[in-house]
Amino acid sequence: MKLLRVEADHPYNVHIGTNVFKFFHDLYRDLLSDADKIVIVADDKVAELHLDYLLSFLKPFDVSVFRIPAGEQAKSVETFMECHSFLLAEGCSRKTLLLAFGGGATGDVAGFVASTFMRGIPYIQLPTTILAHDSAVGGKTAINHALGKNMIGTFYQPKAVLYDTKLLHTLPAEEVRSGMAEVIKHAFISNEQWLSDLLQNRKFSDLTDEEMIAHLEKGIAVKAAIVEEDEFESGMRKYLNFGHTLAHAIEGYEGYGKITHGEAVALGMAYALLLSDHPRLEEYLFWCRSHGYPLSKLTEIPFDSLLAYMKKDKKSSRGTLNFVLLEETGKPFMEMIEEKRAEAAFQQLLSKIGEVLI
Ligand SMILES: NC(=O)c1ccc[n+]([C@@H]2O[C@H](COP(=O)([O-])OP(=O)(O)OC[C@H]3O[C@@H](n4cnc5c(N)ncnc54)[C@H](O)[C@@H]3O)[C@@H](O)[C@H]2O)c1
Ligand SMILES: [Zn+2]
Repeated sequence: MKLLRVEADHPYNVHIGTNVFKFFHDLYRDLLSDADKIVIVADDKVAELHLDYLLSFLKPFDVSVFRIPAGEQAKSVETFMECHSFLLAEGCSRKTLLLAFGGGATGDVAGFVASTFMRGIPYIQLPTTILAHDSAVGGKTAINHALGKNMIGTFYQPKAVLYDTKLLHTLPAEEVRSGMAEVIKHAFISNEQWLSDLLQNRKFSDLTDEEMIAHLEKGIAVKAAIVEEDEFESGMRKYLNFGHTLAHAIEGYEGYGKITHGEAVALGMAYALLLSDHPRLEEYLFWCRSHGYPLSKLTEIPFDSLLAYMKKDKKSSRGTLNFVLLEETGKPFMEMIEEKRAEAAFQQLLSKIGEVLI
């Protein structure tokens, strides 16, 4: 079991490992006993699989459960309002404690509900996906608007994060891939040795619980260190967007939900590595291939379509595109890239992908 402290505006602990829910009974007993009500906002699918397990740790407490749609669908104004309606119907007050039980989508919407219900109530994140090692820490909450993802939200830190890695065993393969892409992203922007360890793995299912816990802890530590420096995203928090400029374009082009976020990020990192002239690009492409990341998708999308999306990116300005690149592993920086160079690099990447996929 691992423990990390996030020194944000309101500091909190992140517990990672099997059996971390036992802390409801000691470390967080006061938080739970002081609440007039405890409400679990649970991803429907996660509730199906793991709610009984979670409830078994909450036995002495009076707990209500509100199930929300599984995954991204939940990040809607409708679900947000339904959560508020549930809390009001249950007679909740500012002393109510909310538990967010699910992946990043659940954490985002439940966090947003917590930050807005009666101007803010305490909440605990109980992440259930690998990707959520990223989303559960840092206090960004959000729902989607028809005109853009994550357009409505707040910065609102949880009281704690209890990350029970036993729950990750039921994740489908594409969600494991999605989460591991954000793990390796954290390695690329922070630590060569760790990156090297990750690149050596050819099958995620070979990772032991201890290895997975160690990777998640390292990933969270990177995220936490950056959040501590830049809680409100005015500077270095942008480095967490390594691989994301192209990833967002792929997601936009494919339509959200057609490719997981992390899979798109994996492809975006390949592109950013090429633009960075990073020595591990080829090794990384082989890693992507062995884990089944959809590299071939890039060969199916016209560059112009991706360009149109990249130009819309918040970080781009007229005629140039903004990328997080690596001077070397662990040394990210922001770079403006001209469209022509961006296109040439894309074609170069396609030919490298062609070689790897043969
Ligand atoms: N707030 C942040 O800082 C931040 C950072 C990164 C991503 N995000 C957000 O996170 C979301 C993506 O999160 P995600 O990848 O965790 O996806 P998700 O929450 O959409 O979950 C993905 C799928 O996995 C299922 N699932 C979850 N846990 C499971 C389990 N243990 N076993 C089986 N199935 C399980 C869900 O039902 C869903 O179908 C996006 O909306 C993204 O915007 C937020
Ligand atoms: Zn991401």
